[in-house]
Amino acid sequence: MTIRTIGVLTGGGDAPGLNPALKAVVYKAAELGITVVGIYDGWQGLLDGYCEETLVLEPHMVRRWDRDGGTNIGSSRTNPFRMKPPGGGEPIDRSDEVIKNIDRLGLDALIAMGGEDTLGVALKLFKKGVPIVGVPKTIDNDLSGTDYTLGFDTAMRNCVDIIERVRTPAGSHHWVQVVEVMGRHAGHLALWSATAGGAMMVLIPECPFRYERLYELLDARLSLGARDRRYPRYAVIVVAEGATAVDEELVTIDDERDAFGHARLGGIGAVLSERIRKDTPYDSRAVILGHAQRGGPPSAIDRLMGRFYGAAAVEAVKDGAFGKMVSSTGIAPACRLSLVDIEEAVGQLKLVDVERYYDTSTYSAKL
Ligand code: F6P
Repeated sequence: MTIRTIGVLTGGGDAPGLNPALKAVVYKAAELGITVVGIYDGWQGLLDGYCEETLVLEPHMVRRWDRDGGTNIGSSRTNPFRMKPPGGGEPIDRSDEVIKNIDRLGLDALIAMGGEDTLGVALKLFKKGVPIVGVPKTIDNDLSGTDYTLGFDTAMRNCVDIIERVRTPAGSHHWVQVVEVMGRHAGHLALWSATAGGAMMVLIPECPFRYERLYELLDARLSLGARDRRYPRYAVIVVAEGATAVDEELVTIDDERDAFGHARLGGIGAVLSERIRKDTPYDSRAVILGHAQRGGPPSAIDRLMGRFYGAAAVEAVKDGAFGKMVSSTGIAPACRLSLVDIEEAVGQLKLVDVERYYDTSTYSAKL
């Protein structure tokens, strides 16, 4: 099949690295004589009433995009297989509308950039006959079949920056500073940014923690500091939003669920800080990084990985490798790219290998 026109979309939470990937898609496609149509706002952009507006992306338009964070074609958490009907009621399947519009726009294939949800939709559409290639993106780095998902490195950089910044007030006032970062199911971002930022402890979704143990560890550190000023009198604890205490529930912002059934997480940092204030002699503060950790210009790694992934996705389309996701062993520049089944990538999330990397008695990365 000759590919003349491809559509490209970005779905789910935005991530630095998407714009470099979009630029590479457009540049590689231009090299191969393929037209690229940018679809606005993820899967939403292929629904009736939305897909009338698309953007043909040309190299001169995207020349500077590799320096931009976020995604310049917008994103959404739309799930065309489970759309809320306007008057309320049970969700409906509008995937046929998406397929009809792909045809109407004259797209020979689609490149979908996203995480488990966006690529989960891509997989279902592929099974219905849509020629799709995926690009892995999520600051959580929790897709299987690849070492790297776009956004992870920049998010780590942002988290480390904040950990460094909160350390000085915590040190001056002798606080236990809690820093809540994202990570619904996987603690990669929490674990590695805490470690790089030199936090004392890190709590991850993969390993429920015990308050009593956490207090013991705090006591061991802070009682020493209280006796001898050469030792620290503060502590930084990083907690992933999806972390829980043993026998306790996930902390959510509200009862709402998105179109993929996920609760909005957030608040464990404040709960933990409150408990420390109540149960120990230590004063504590909490900061929730929220969407700031996904913001700002992409890191060098995200620019390079975006470039590699974008170009590889166009090559995959040209080769007819549909139902595949571009993937990487290692991280740029010394990485090896390949293709894996989208089914493998979204089948099971890639969690932290606790045995290998996490010390469950000190709540920190193993040395
Ligand atoms: O999936 C990426 C992610 O950043 C998660 O870590 C987090 O739980 C979620 O997105 C936040 O969702 P939203 O951007 O819709 O607030």
